[in-house]
Amino acid sequence: MRQTAFAAVSAFALVAGAGTAIAEPKAEVLHWWTSGGEAKSVAVLKDEFTANGGSWTDMPVAGGGGDAAMTALRARVLSGNPPTAVQLKGPAIQEWYEEGALADISDVAEAENWAAVLPEAIASHMKCDGTWCAVPVNVHRVDWIWANAEILAANGIEMPKTWDEFNAAAEKLKAAGITPLAHGGQAWQDATVFETVALGIGGPDFYRKAFVELDPATLKSDTMKAVFDEMRILRGFVDDNFSGRDWNLATAMVMNGEAAFQIMGDWAKGEFLAAGKVPGKDFLCASTPGDGFLYNVDSFAMFKVDGADRIAGQKLLAKLVMGPNFQKVFNLNKGSIPARTDVPLDEFDMCAHISADDMKASAANGSLLPSYAHGMALRGAQAGAITDVVTAHFNSDMSSDEAVQMLADAVANSF
Ligand code: BGC
Repeated sequence: MRQTAFAAVSAFALVAGAGTAIAEPKAEVLHWWTSGGEAKSVAVLKDEFTANGGSWTDMPVAGGGGDAAMTALRARVLSGNPPTAVQLKGPAIQEWYEEGALADISDVAEAENWAAVLPEAIASHMKCDGTWCAVPVNVHRVDWIWANAEILAANGIEMPKTWDEFNAAAEKLKAAGITPLAHGGQAWQDATVFETVALGIGGPDFYRKAFVELDPATLKSDTMKAVFDEMRILRGFVDDNFSGRDWNLATAMVMNGEAAFQIMGDWAKGEFLAAGKVPGKDFLCASTPGDGFLYNVDSFAMFKVDGADRIAGQKLLAKLVMGPNFQKVFNLNKGSIPARTDVPLDEFDMCAHISADDMKASAANGSLLPSYAHGMALRGAQAGAITDVVTAHFNSDMSSDEAVQMLADAVANSF
């Protein structure tokens, strides 16, 4: 261990330039990975970083989906003291780049030949004006349903393949006194469910027109009304205490037999696994009804900082995050699949294999789509405008007619 650390420090001192003092790589890392499965995953990175001679300062900001983390980030940047590395993704990377806040990590990317091992769709999120400005950790899929295997078996229910089947299964469970849907009433969780319903009911082209292109006619179409209708039905399947509940507590309800289903990205699988649950036996996974694949790629961006030690820390971190072993071990814990295409998946479970296969198929037929709810499709203002309407509708008796009008108006006013 000592030797590895020494070797790494020496290597970075060399990178920093001959004649400079040895810089111990340092990183202050802002992230929102605080649940059981998430904490286990980020520990993999911290351990690799320290084993390679780095000194890690953790800056976790709790709050699923990362809204609180992004507020904390803005405060740090405005005070002139950004963290060295930040969990940041999608168009937010470009937004921070345009503010001149990001460091260029092209030297690491080129030395490690990232371009050869990343799918083009993922690589494009990591590039700003042709330079590399972020490093991808994984591919999470958002459009998943998780289920308690025992509850389904005991009630003669199969994993639903259409939203009508889901509704019928949920009615049956409700009649049997079981909470059908574990849900946490936080805006980003409402948005997570909403986008999977939109993909399922409207299909991939509808989703793209609505949440990538923000086409006004699509936003207030009859199909969008049907999406809100289904959201109203789902609202009837959650328990009375759903308001404000964290997503991992909703996952625990499924785990503990207090609810049958959860609609959530595959970070939920990280929770099941961290609790020792086995896919296919204790819990079931299936994509939400309909075609397509909603991707959510976690990544880190390095912020412009001073000091050879912090710059060495950024380079070390960028290199480690893309390392094949890290990509395997981290994602085994996190519930996602590696961003690198050359990591063997033989140690991964059945849900990860479904994800990898569906990702390939959807990339080939044009239905691989960015998650709007997880900051992959839109800039913050537009995504926020949509989510405000989704959550206002879910938490009131607003009609679908009103909701679509409000949606179109909110998006139009968000620019
Ligand atoms: C992130 C995941 C995280 C989840 C819940 C998502 O937006 O991409 O890494 O586990 O939020 O916090």
